Amino acid sequence: MPLIHIEQISKRYSNNFLALHPTTLTIDPCCFTVILGPSGAGKSTLLRTINGLEQPSTGKITVDGRQLTPDSMQRSRAKIGMVFQQFNLVGRLNVMTNVLTGCLYHRPWYTSLLYLFTKKDYELAHWALDRVGLTDKAWERADQLSGGQQQRVGIARALAQRPKVILADEPVASLDPVTSEEIMGLLLEICRNEQIAVVASLHQVNLAMRFADRIIGLNQGQVVFDDTPSALSSDMLQTVYQREDENFQMEMAH
Ligand SMILES: Nc1ncnc2c1ncn2[C@@H]1O[C@H](COP(=O)(O)OP(=O)(O)O)[C@@H](O)[C@H]1O
Ligand SMILES: [Mg+2]
Repeated sequence: MPLIHIEQISKRYSNNFLALHPTTLTIDPCCFTVILGPSGAGKSTLLRTINGLEQPSTGKITVDGRQLTPDSMQRSRAKIGMVFQQFNLVGRLNVMTNVLTGCLYHRPWYTSLLYLFTKKDYELAHWALDRVGLTDKAWERADQLSGGQQQRVGIARALAQRPKVILADEPVASLDPVTSEEIMGLLLEICRNEQIAVVASLHQVNLAMRFADRIIGLNQGQVVFDDTPSALSSDMLQTVYQREDENFQMEMAH
């Protein structure tokens, strides 16, 4: 059974712009999927719609057998860990507390206001920090860490949620090339070892080719490619990156 099933999902923003044409996709458990496309292709729109941060204009989404509705949202979201380009940590809080907030998805809302954590939460957070190699930074302020370390904290927070899938929206766009490789490697390792599906959006072709099991190519809100990296020919790449302006040439070069 697919983990996520999106059926004829589209997104038209309030300014009437159709950012995502009707799209049908399934995401399988344990698969490392890359959403590839130039800036403005609709990658964030697609990821944000899958976890309910954006309401789709048409269609329906099923997560782990349950249709996403306002009522089921909290429960479904608990199964989806999010990782962001800008890490989205609380900088003034220490690393441990940032990771612990991942545990709150399975709680009543008021415990999150009080930052009430159980022994089990701490065990889970310690495990997650160990998993991303940051045990020694647990009590440092999050904003004192390097970009790569902050992204590791972001991944640990997602892990503490015990998700079935991690959606990572441009997880390496703010990082240098070496750190980007490390973070992609970590996500792949987590996908393989913890059996968590990963759906990561990227604009860099080389990283997609190296790390993905499956590449979904988006262009102007439409899926134009959906296959393994080895099937992504240079002609097909042109289709994915086709744009009226010149920027895509630069993006492809990175
Ligand atoms: N809230 C919004 N209102 C109107 N248009 C938007 C909004 N968010 C994104 N868009 C537009 O939708 C398109 C896709 O955006 P996005 O999903 O952010 O693309 P990507 O993540 O691939 O760069 C872009 O043209 C963008 O300008
Ligand atoms: Mg984006």
